[in-house]
Amino acid sequence: MTNSAITTSGLRKAFQDKVVLDGIDLDVRAGTVFALLGPNGAGKTTMVNVLTTLLKADGGTIRVAGHDVATEANAVRAAIGVTGQFAAVDELLTGRENLQLMVDLGRAKNGRETVARLLERFDLAEAADKSASTYSGGMRRKLDLAMTLIGNPRLIFLDEPTTGLDPRSRRTMWSMIRELVAGGVTIFLTTQYLDEADQLADRIAVLDHGRLVAQGTPDELKRQIPGTHIRLRFGTAAELDAAARIFPGSTRDDEALALRIPGDGGTASLRALLDRLDEHALGAEEFSVHTPDLDDVFLALTGHTTEVLAK
Ligand SMILES: Nc1ncnc2c1ncn2[C@@H]1O[C@H](COP(=O)(O)OP(=O)(O)O)[C@@H](O)[C@H]1O
Ligand SMILES: [Mg+2]
Repeated sequence: MTNSAITTSGLRKAFQDKVVLDGIDLDVRAGTVFALLGPNGAGKTTMVNVLTTLLKADGGTIRVAGHDVATEANAVRAAIGVTGQFAAVDELLTGRENLQLMVDLGRAKNGRETVARLLERFDLAEAADKSASTYSGGMRRKLDLAMTLIGNPRLIFLDEPTTGLDPRSRRTMWSMIRELVAGGVTIFLTTQYLDEADQLADRIAVLDHGRLVAQGTPDELKRQIPGTHIRLRFGTAAELDAAARIFPGSTRDDEALALRIPGDGGTASLRALLDRLDEHALGAEEFSVHTPDLDDVFLALTGHTTEVLAK
């Protein structure tokens, strides 16, 4: 097996004549977090379902955990864990019983011990013997993830793991995801939250109308779009005037004595900028590179407003 946990080439999926995934190529390196970012209806769950063998693709080559999903679906299933967009928790059972059910389905050895350890780790020990119907959304999500971890999978799919969670539960989920990655697990995550992808992912792919409109590290995505700029703050209005003259295309903020100079934030352009200041014997009191957040990235790449992302 190579170092890829997931590779797809030309992945296509349509429902009747509605094309949902239209030729997706991606490569998820083992031991990393990959975030598939897109608004509601973009095709994220469809993608997860195809990768986890719940749905058959119409075309393309897909390898997951070293196996071809079309011909070795059982081997793929044995190697992965999936936490769906809608929690798979059985509400009629207690938390402990839900976990025990996973053990009984053959997903773990030393079941009793594993269950107790997971309840502890996910802060669910106290509520372990209460019916899951009494759990909060955050507790349900945690239980769902704990159920996924029963078989100790090395590749985990998390479909919108924090949608609908309160900020605190969201942070808990994030730290659990980070813990898993620190343990060498590969995570394929979908999200409509830009900050979540930014926080967690090594690489992000932006899904829009069936295609990946961008792929890269969070920083690479930010650099692709207009809006990155260098901000210089000067000590006096005279210096600001002088600087504004040598950087045509810059925007000035007279009140803050600051100048915004468009640029890609790369080292070459920063060096050129500093050299120009030097040539004119100008020094700034403050210097910062502003990169837009992922909100801006999505807007620039897809033309959608973020309102489409809000649920
Ligand atoms: N089983 C299905 N039959 C027909 N259309 C579907 C089915 N599943 C999903 N779709 C459609 O495919 C599109 C993508 O859905 P989905 O993958 O659930 O998006 P997301 O998870 O990004 O919100 C949507 O337009 C949805 O209505
Ligand atoms: Mg979905």
